[in-house]
Amino acid sequence: MTKATFNIWRGDGGAGELVEYTVEVNEGEVVLDVLHRLQATQAPDLAVRWNCKAGKCGSCSMEINGRPRLSCMTRMNTFEPDEVITVTPMRTFPVIRDLVCDVSYNYEKARQIPSFTPDPGTEPGDFRMQQSDVQRMQEFRKCIECFLCNDVCHVIRDHEENKEHFSGPRYLMRVAELEMHPEDTADRRVIAQDEFGLGYCNITKCCTEVCPENIKITDNSLIPLKERVADRKYDPLVWLGEKIGVR
Ligand code: SF4
Ligand code: F3S
Ligand code: FES
Repeated sequence: MTKATFNIWRGDGGAGELVEYTVEVNEGEVVLDVLHRLQATQAPDLAVRWNCKAGKCGSCSMEINGRPRLSCMTRMNTFEPDEVITVTPMRTFPVIRDLVCDVSYNYEKARQIPSFTPDPGTEPGDFRMQQSDVQRMQEFRKCIECFLCNDVCHVIRDHEENKEHFSGPRYLMRVAELEMHPEDTADRRVIAQDEFGLGYCNITKCCTEVCPENIKITDNSLIPLKERVADRKYDPLVWLGEKIGVR
């Protein structure tokens, strides 16, 4: 058993401050274990959202030493023995209390995406997908909706005013998933740009770096979606159609 020093942000949406705690740490523990020990011994009112403690529910997102992380997957032995560990709520979303944020922005963006639109002429069981298409979807479907990618993205991290126009990497990835689905008939290229703010993304790849599921968000969804949008924009038939007002 050792001791660690934690600086934890305590407060609500209006105001707060970092509060220092010295707390016991045992071998094999993760940050969430230590937060639970703090609740049990020193800070019973500390608000922390969590559920699975296995990196699968996406609830325990927070910032640990300034980096967006899952607290249940951040091992205590990754810190130096005398390192002060600073734990703060996700910066991009409004704080409800302590380490718990209001992430409803993400759900609003999710609801704005037109749903899967298969060809009505395809009979159930008739459509066959290529294995490569299945694998692409499966990568995106690993998402646990922790929203660490949206938290880190500079487009909204420090720019509240952009939230209205930008879905964040998580839901641009969903638009890309549907756009690249071979049985989806909707053309999502215009709304990706105009309604979900794809153009705001300048491919910094910070989202990919923090994804706990190691999804290649930028390379496999955002860049291919940008390529599709560009293909449409520079398609001479689309250009001509727009000029004469038929597309
Ligand atoms: Fe979390 Fe990755 Fe899904 Fe973003 S894409 S919400 S970082 S699991
Ligand atoms: Fe943001 Fe990821 Fe693009 S961090 S700028 S959405 S590559
Ligand atoms: Fe479920 Fe951390 S508690 S991902």
